[in-house]
Amino acid sequence: MAANQRYVHIVGWGMEVPERRLTNADLERMVETSDEWITTRTGIKERRIAREGETTATLALGAARKALQKAGVSPADLDLIIVASATPEHAFPATACLVQDALGADRAGAFDLSAACSGFLYGLCLASQAIRTGAIETALVIGSETLSRIVDWKDRNTCVLFGDGAGAVVLTARPEPGGVLACTMRADGSGGPLLELPAGGSRYPTSLETLAHNMHTIKMKGREIFRFAVRVMADAARHVVEEAGLTMDEVALLIPHQANRRIIEAAANRLKLPMERVYLNLDRYGNTSSASIPIALTEAVEEGRLRPGDHVVMVAFGAGLTWAGVLVQWAELLPVAPPTPRRRLRERTQSLVARIRSSWRRTRRYVWGLVRRLRGEPPLS
Ligand code: UT7
Repeated sequence: MAANQRYVHIVGWGMEVPERRLTNADLERMVETSDEWITTRTGIKERRIAREGETTATLALGAARKALQKAGVSPADLDLIIVASATPEHAFPATACLVQDALGADRAGAFDLSAACSGFLYGLCLASQAIRTGAIETALVIGSETLSRIVDWKDRNTCVLFGDGAGAVVLTARPEPGGVLACTMRADGSGGPLLELPAGGSRYPTSLETLAHNMHTIKMKGREIFRFAVRVMADAARHVVEEAGLTMDEVALLIPHQANRRIIEAAANRLKLPMERVYLNLDRYGNTSSASIPIALTEAVEEGRLRPGDHVVMVAFGAGLTWAGVLVQWAELLPVAPPTPRRRLRERTQSLVARIRSSWRRTRRYVWGLVRRLRGEPPLS
């Protein structure tokens, strides 16, 4: 290994899901469906639903704090924050900026990434490429969703599938070999109409008409997505395995986007990968879109499913159409600086100072606006 070799490692991981559970039995009371249909066709038993006040940003922040704590990385050390989401807090400002402000990550750039269920892996690819070039050192990549806010609760074809939650990872440059070894990001926009949220953008701005036509909820052609998903998940997995110079036999764990058990089984079958080497938790969370892989990764690590040296492949597909794959050689590295009581105190102080600074900036902007108005100055002078 060259002395200056940089490897990009996942050094922290964390997840945050709402406490409220919606079971298949609950759904039986809402639409014409059954636990039996949902279980056999999808594998989902329950999903989490955000309460009022719980949003994409609050879930993202919860996951981010846990990932940072695990990594022993302070928000002040972050160079970049990416939030992948199909259900951002607003069209703008970016949810990533809300997270940056709440964390007090004063040195970080922050942006949202729109690649639907593939968004987290797109973010992981981009951040790891930026770290590998030396442009940045440390990044926080989050997948966070409140899909319950855009689901049509009268449409049994979609409402049984989705759930809310967030997952996050901290990536950093380290000299130890391993980490993110291969990435692929792909798209086929011709399939856009297969999975969409038609209104609320510049094509169909929100109006009484878009509301009357129920154009602010998920529309999906399930069967077509199913066929596409099986093909591209297997392709993406093969692609990253080959790029890393490995074979499928050397893959310890596949962490697929948790959309449908049958899709995952069919993809694993194509890859000739036994289901013991495939991670599944969709029975408990349903499809949480961009959050599904970081939530699954967090649970897989916490359950001891990944050992140092293991090769793990993550694959996702989603609206766009988009798909992506990432291959990581897992290494549980000690935090750069183990969190001593003094360091914890410093971090708490930094976080408090960041909150005070943020409030001060808001107040200063407000007061200056007021002064300008009182002076009769035009707003943009
Ligand atoms: O992150 C990406 C997001 N999207 C996906 O991952 C979706 C991928 N697609 C799928 O997971 C599956 O296509 C579904 C789970 C959506 C549907 O499963 P399927 O085996 O492809 O069912 P189907 O669409 O072929 O529908 C079979 C029947 C239909 O009835 P008819 O027309 O045959 O009489 C549906 O109306 O099942 C009916 N159906 C339901 N019945 C009970 C659809 N949803 C339900 C339901 N409960 N919730």
